[in-house]
Amino acid sequence: MSTFELKDVRYVYKTQYQSVEAVKGVSAVFETGRLYAVMGASGSGKTTLLSLMAGLDTPTSGEVLCNGVSTEKMNLSKYRRENVAVIYQDFRLFPLLTVAENIMYPMEQRGIKTSSAREKAAELIARVGLPEMAADRFPAMLSGGEQQRVAIARALGMDTDVLLADEPTGNLDEENTAKIFGMLLDLAHKDGYCVVVVTHDENLGARADICLRMRDGKLV
Ligand SMILES: Nc1ncnc2c1ncn2[C@@H]1O[C@H](COP(=O)(O)OP(=O)(O)OP(=O)(O)O)[C@@H](O)[C@H]1O
Ligand SMILES: [Mg+2]
Repeated sequence: MSTFELKDVRYVYKTQYQSVEAVKGVSAVFETGRLYAVMGASGSGKTTLLSLMAGLDTPTSGEVLCNGVSTEKMNLSKYRRENVAVIYQDFRLFPLLTVAENIMYPMEQRGIKTSSAREKAAELIARVGLPEMAADRFPAMLSGGEQQRVAIARALGMDTDVLLADEPTGNLDEENTAKIFGMLLDLAHKDGYCVVVVTHDENLGARADICLRMRDGKLV
């Protein structure tokens, strides 16, 4: 079981001429078995915060702690491979791999044998409600809602207990939004994942266990 803690996290984007303080002292705790929505206006720092939790970078100051260990002290690529799974608005599936191969990829990265990865992928395809024949299709041959299911299946195959999603329903219609969000809620409540979802959708925010709001880099 993972716990996630942000302690006075600040993050400054620096280029040669400018710096932007995108996150300004955020503290929060995220527990397994719950779905957290992170809401707030465009530019309020939601994606930046999620990126820090995903281990794409470490905070400029403060700490992101996973099971009590600061990401500052970790090998970040190992952390990204083993501790957190991320789902994006634009799915980010590998276009030249089939659905099954997309789902198998992170498992193979972790050293799981191809035959076991293939079996597990078939299970996950069923679990996210895709038909069996989807396994051998390329992502481009699926609808947006189906592609997002593949992205979720791939994330589940990583065997982490934290799922981070940045506007996972941003490209979906109302019906698929409801289905995907329902699936994320089940993953938190039935399977014990810690799910953190960035969303602009107030309806989804209202269905989350905990709704965090950001304004200008801070939690309000
Ligand atoms: N790569 C970057 N370099 C410099 N500044 C950046 C970079 N990415 C984001 N920012 C700035 O950091 C702030 C927070 O951006 P962030 O992407 O975290 O916002 P957001 O809440 O996810 O917005 P949105 O809802 O539009 O996705 C913004 O002021 C943005 O301009
Ligand atoms: Mg964003």
